[in-house]
Amino acid sequence: MIGRLNHVAIAVTNLNDATKLYKHVLGAEVSEVQQLAEHGVNVVFVNLPNSKIELLEPIDETSPIASFLAKNPAGGMHHICYEVEDITTASQKLVAAGARILGDGLPKTGAHGKPVIFLHPKDFNGTLIELEQV
Ligand code: CO
Repeated sequence: MIGRLNHVAIAVTNLNDATKLYKHVLGAEVSEVQQLAEHGVNVVFVNLPNSKIELLEPIDETSPIASFLAKNPAGGMHHICYEVEDITTASQKLVAAGARILGDGLPKTGAHGKPVIFLHPKDFNGTLIELEQV
């Protein structure tokens, strides 16, 4: 059911500093900042030859990323995103298998303007998984 690895997301305390680090120290190509109010984050994408890295900064204290950074003050790996062909079919299969979808269970619009869902980390080896319809 899952396809390509779309991106790995890293929570950061300062998106500007993290962007400079990836651009100037690691020599990567980094996108412009996008604000995703529905997800409570500012985001940039680091474009790698075979995948992407998503750098996430909380918009404010109510952001889910703010609570993650409270537990991981240096930042850290937050989620991985796999591609799926059909988010509705994928959701139905996962729920039937006993997996929990975070929030109200319905797809939200992700950073690429495509529908996404997040799966409960306790159901997937302690890893927060995002599925994105491509
Ligand atoms: Co993501």
